[in-house]
Amino acid sequence: MTCDLVRIRLEPLSVELKLPLGSSLIAALAAHGVEFPCGGMGECSGCQVRVLSGSLLVTEADSATLTPDQLAKGWRLACQARAHESLVLECGQWRMQILADDNPSDPIPKVGALATMVAPSIPAVISRERAGDQSASSSRGLAVAIDLGTTTIAAQLIDASGNVLAVETALNPQAAFGSDVMSRIRAALEGQDLTTPIRVALGQIVARLARGRASQVAEVLLVGNTVMHHLFGSLDVEPLAHVPFQSPNLAEQRFTPRDLGWDLPSDCVVRFARCIGGFIGSDILAGIVAAGIALGDDLTALVDLGTNGEIAIGNRHGIVCASTAAGPAFEAGSIRMGMRAVTGAIAYVALVDGTLRPTVLGDGAPRGICGSGLVDAVAAGLRSGSILANGRIADGSKNFPIALPVVLYQSDIRELQLAKGAIAAGFRLLLKRLGAQVSSLHAIHLAGAFGNYVQIESALRIGLLEAPHSVIHAAGNTALRGAKMLLLAREEPQLPPIEHVSLAADPAFQDEFAACMTFPENL
Ligand code: FES
Repeated sequence: MTCDLVRIRLEPLSVELKLPLGSSLIAALAAHGVEFPCGGMGECSGCQVRVLSGSLLVTEADSATLTPDQLAKGWRLACQARAHESLVLECGQWRMQILADDNPSDPIPKVGALATMVAPSIPAVISRERAGDQSASSSRGLAVAIDLGTTTIAAQLIDASGNVLAVETALNPQAAFGSDVMSRIRAALEGQDLTTPIRVALGQIVARLARGRASQVAEVLLVGNTVMHHLFGSLDVEPLAHVPFQSPNLAEQRFTPRDLGWDLPSDCVVRFARCIGGFIGSDILAGIVAAGIALGDDLTALVDLGTNGEIAIGNRHGIVCASTAAGPAFEAGSIRMGMRAVTGAIAYVALVDGTLRPTVLGDGAPRGICGSGLVDAVAAGLRSGSILANGRIADGSKNFPIALPVVLYQSDIRELQLAKGAIAAGFRLLLKRLGAQVSSLHAIHLAGAFGNYVQIESALRIGLLEAPHSVIHAAGNTALRGAKMLLLAREEPQLPPIEHVSLAADPAFQDEFAACMTFPENL
C-alpha cells in the first residue's frame, strides 16, 4: 500500500522532511528540535511557524491565539497544523533577531536631530539641492527604506514626517546560494539567477509594507553592500571576484516598478544608492550619514562587524574606509558548535566568582554558541586564566567547556583570533592613514546585529576594539536609519572625500594583522 507524501522545508535550517498527506507536523518538527511548550494544546503560541510557500488552514486555536496581523502574515500554530500540500515553513523559534531601526511607533530622528544627538552643536550635513528631484516623501506622502543585507533584509514604510508606519524583516533568499558574498559571486558566475529571487522577495516585502496604500508610495531607497547592489541590478559581478575587487559599476541605479515587477505607481522611483568602492557599499554610506561622521571636526568611526568587517573613520574634512575579511567567526559560522543567535544559542557568558554563567536564548538547553557568546566566552577564559594571550587553552585540554554539551575547541579560538586580528589591524592602518591616534577618537559606532549584541567589555578584552570604553556605542541598524535620513532629506548630503583603502594592497597589513592576532595581556 502506498501513501501520498508532502514535502516540508523548514527554514532557516533548510531541512527537508517528507510527511504522509494530512499528517500532523508535531512529531516531525519535534524530531528537528522544534519545541512545543504547552504540549501542543494550542495555548502558548510558542510553536509558531510562518508559511512561506503553500498554505495551512487557519484553525480555531490559531484565531484565538494569534493576532489578525500575524495570521495575515502567514503565522500558524505548528501544533495544530496538518500538511495537505507541500510547504516551506519558517520556524519562529529559530527566527533570527533582525535589526530594523526604532519601534514602528517612534518617529525617526531627522538629519538635524541625529546630528545634535551624535555631535552636539554641529550643523547638519545637508547643503546641496537635489536638482529637479522632488523629495518623494514630501510630494506624495510615503516612502520605503530597505537595508538589503547578505543574510537579512529590514525594510520600513515612512511618512513625510519620518514616522515609521510599518516594518518588515526577512531572510535574504539568496542564502540558498551560500552565506557570504563570495559564494553569491561564485553562484552568479556559474550562471545562477540571483537577481530574480531578491527582486521578487523585496517586491513582496514592499507590498506587505504598503498594503492598502501602495498608491501613496513615491520612492523606494535601497542600501546594501556592493555585491547586493550588483546582484539586485543584474550587473556583472566578475570584477568583484578577484583582486583588486574594483567594479566600474558603483553608481546609483534607478528602476521603475515595472522594471522590477513591483506593484507600485508607475512614476514611483526605486533607487539603489551608490557604492563607495571594493566591497564597501551604500550600507556604509548610509551608516556614515546616520553616525554623523561628516558633521564636524571630531574624529568618528563606524565599524560594521560581519564576515566582511567594514570600517569608516573620519570627520567633515575627509573619511577613509576599508573592508577586511574577518571570516565567519563573528556569525559563529566557522565555530564547531557555532549557530545563529536563535533559540538554544549561548548568547552571553559572564564570569562570576570564577565560574562561567551562560545565557541561553529562549531559556532552554544550550545547543550551540553564537558570535556574541563566543566573544564573551573567550574574554571570560582570558580573565580566568583558562585561555592564554597566545590563544592556547592553558591546561592543554582539547576544549574549553562553556555549558555542556557546548564547548569551544582550540580551532574555534584560533578562528576568533583571525577575525579580531583582521578588524583590529584594519582599524590601526586606517588611523595611521589619517595620522591619528586612538586617543583622538570622539566616538566609535558599532553597526549591525553583531555590534548590537556584543558586550563591549568583552570586545575590549579580546582586543577586537582598542579604545576607551566610554567612546564605544552600539548604533543599531545604521544602514536603515541612514537610508531613511536620505529619503527625508530635501537635499543630497554633501559628504567629504571618502577614500577607499585596499588593505590587501597595503604592505603593512600582514605585519599588523600578525601583531593583532594575540590577545591583550592583563586588561
Ligand atoms: S505548543 Fe503551545 S500553542 Fe503549540
